[in-house]
Amino acid sequence: MPTVSLDDLRSAIAAATTAAELDDLEQQLFSRKHGLLTLAMKELQEATPEEKAKKGRELNETKQSFTKLLADKRGALQRASLGSLAETEKLDVTLELPAKERGHLHLIPEFIRSVEELFGRMGFEVAEGPEVETEENNFNQLNIPAAHPARDMQDTFWLEQDGLPPGGPYVMRTQTSPVQIRYMQTHKPPLRIIAPGKVYRKDADATHSPMFHQFEGLMIGEDVSLANMKAVMITAIRELISPKAEFRFRTGFFPFVEPGLEVDMRWQGDDKESREGKWLEIVGCGMVHPNVLKNVGIDPKKFRGFAFGFGVERMIMIKHQIPDLRSFFVGDLRFLKQF
Ligand code: DAH
Repeated sequence: MPTVSLDDLRSAIAAATTAAELDDLEQQLFSRKHGLLTLAMKELQEATPEEKAKKGRELNETKQSFTKLLADKRGALQRASLGSLAETEKLDVTLELPAKERGHLHLIPEFIRSVEELFGRMGFEVAEGPEVETEENNFNQLNIPAAHPARDMQDTFWLEQDGLPPGGPYVMRTQTSPVQIRYMQTHKPPLRIIAPGKVYRKDADATHSPMFHQFEGLMIGEDVSLANMKAVMITAIRELISPKAEFRFRTGFFPFVEPGLEVDMRWQGDDKESREGKWLEIVGCGMVHPNVLKNVGIDPKKFRGFAFGFGVERMIMIKHQIPDLRSFFVGDLRFLKQF
């Protein structure tokens, strides 16, 4: 056995720099088999009674002094390491970081969110339908049979039947109105829904794009009137575009409503010379046609209601006086960053 004295251990404790070193020194003193102090205790058993009493007391004091020494040193090491942590992990909360450029939603989804939020406050739920729709839902059920001239107003993208499930012919939906049909087939009135989404038509110029967005609305109940519809339309225009928005109602024809109305709004467009501005149609609406209600099994004698379809891009064009609808889709950052 190397002869380590208690004094050696005392200075080793004072010099220790890690908790592991202290554990080791503690073992050398107190381990049950070889601990220096444990052995001293054992030796004591062979001493005379007087010696036992005297040396026992001394030994106890030594043990206590080492226990305290170890605990103090442990505490000191811990405080030192916390202190250095505070030093290395120091945060300067007053430091100003360079500004980071953040993106934002595109105008269209941003506008659709505000539509959902506004109509949500008026008790309308959000409903969805597929963009590939059956001819049945997109036209027939909406009171637009095959030979109906209203079909000509919508230059439709027809899909090849190959590979598609039976139930066609299929079209890229030309309007969000088929969501009305889907919803009424699966829900009982009273009901209030809003259905935003993409629609497709073979059209392209400054106010038309082959893909654009609409949001459909439908409210059915026992005593829903045309006056209710006008109130909802006016609220939507004022809240979504401007409280001072200029608009006008006209009669309009849509096979799935009777009577039908259209709302136009003043649009300056790129024609800065014209002080009068132009009128741009932004919404079609009307009282749901009894044939449509019958088609989905709702009794038109008991229930009635209104439907409407807003053109999203056109509303945004009017809100921000944007001259060309195609700017929404070309991804030009100089345009997008302005909003
Ligand atoms: N679906 C029509 C269109 O795309 C817009 C429309 C008109 C929707 C009248 C309606 C409505 O719900 O009642 O031209």
